[in-house]
Amino acid sequence: MSRDGFGSKIGIIAAAAGSAVGLGNIYRFPCELGNNGGGAFLLVYLLIVLCLGVPVMLSEFVIGRKTQKNPIGAFKMLRPKSAWPLVGYMGVVCALVIMAFYSTVAGWTLEYVVKAVGNQFQGKELSVIEQEFADFHNLGWKNVLWQVVFIFMTGFVVFKGVANGIEKYSKILMPLLVLILIVLAIRSVTLPGAGEGLAFLFKPDFTKITGSVLISALGQAFFSLSMGMGVLITYGSYIKKTDNMTTTALSVTMSDTLVAVLAGIVIFPAAFSFGVRPEAGMGLVFSTIPMIFNQMAGGYFFCIIFFVLLAVAALTSTISLLEVIVAYLVEEVHVTRRWATVIASVACILVGVFASLSLKDTSVLRVGGKSFFDFLDFLSANIFLPVGALLIVIFVGWVMGKSKFFDEITNEGQLKLSIKTLIFFIIKFVAPIAIAVIFITGLI
Ligand code: TRP
Repeated sequence: MSRDGFGSKIGIIAAAAGSAVGLGNIYRFPCELGNNGGGAFLLVYLLIVLCLGVPVMLSEFVIGRKTQKNPIGAFKMLRPKSAWPLVGYMGVVCALVIMAFYSTVAGWTLEYVVKAVGNQFQGKELSVIEQEFADFHNLGWKNVLWQVVFIFMTGFVVFKGVANGIEKYSKILMPLLVLILIVLAIRSVTLPGAGEGLAFLFKPDFTKITGSVLISALGQAFFSLSMGMGVLITYGSYIKKTDNMTTTALSVTMSDTLVAVLAGIVIFPAAFSFGVRPEAGMGLVFSTIPMIFNQMAGGYFFCIIFFVLLAVAALTSTISLLEVIVAYLVEEVHVTRRWATVIASVACILVGVFASLSLKDTSVLRVGGKSFFDFLDFLSANIFLPVGALLIVIFVGWVMGKSKFFDEITNEGQLKLSIKTLIFFIIKFVAPIAIAVIFITGLI
């Protein structure tokens, strides 16, 4: 069967960066940072991205491009009759878990586009905006409605196919998002009292680094880079045999990290200036950002554009998640692409509804002291992704081996890559040990 490929080099970078840059950067990153000690978290996060980002991403790309298959098919092809395809199955389950709660937040971006168009933030006090956000959760049905709309939108793009779907939009819109974040950052750092927020972000307090900070940073790094569950195996399968995957991985890692750090510079100075607690979680972003626009010339229009772009960023991420489930159904279960999209979307809605409803104050949908939403978030970022990434690097480092890895990243010797030995050393030794140690300390 012929598979869609990406038309150009920028195509795969745009698509992988589109998958990486999303709510994880703008919503989840500030939440995790605020809850895990600020600057200390940022430092650990950057270290993890710097050391593990490119090697783990390359491991996924290599598996994907070598086999030209979805994660399950890829492991089946490389190690038939072994337990390795389970890593692929775990990825499909993880895609569903992430989609379920991610689509909740993605739905909010649509609600916020509507609010912004209706000029519903201007002139309001922080407490009012915060209260309206809480009221919105407690409505329940409205969250579910937007969530379903968002999943349908995702299904529509996925059904239209990978190459023409994603490539066109993210190339223009993601740089635009960066631009508007820069404008926001400038406004934020010039607010009265912004310095305290900057200090929170950039002055690490080393005593705050605990096992749970480490695992949160690790999980956030994998989550933000879309690593550890096969999205990048799937995307790797669309990379051309002549492309340089190492520079692709580097560009994706850098752009994603840039957006996350920018989001931090937008959120924390403003949050401290307005008096939003750094541990405020979701409100940190969904209340602080409208407040910044309130303090800005042209805030009305910027606010609309921002939430539209945020919705698009979320969409390019949900596309990649749904694509994993759809590619599995099409290539391994042999259903048509249309049915695969329908089945995958319905499955995401069925689980996702519970995630949305679990955020009501009165909700009984709780697992182990957490809302079902938080539980899915924790399960994916702190358990599935680290375990998935660990198995992937072990596979490439110890099962596939050095020569096959070198062949693949150098395009059968066509490319000269002086850092290939270092990268392989990280994949074989550093990454497995670091991930395992952090994962275990995090659990204790
Ligand atoms: N990386 C995306 C974000 O930061 C979310 C995402 C998309 C993701 N695909 C993924 C996370 C695969 C983990 C695995 O918003």
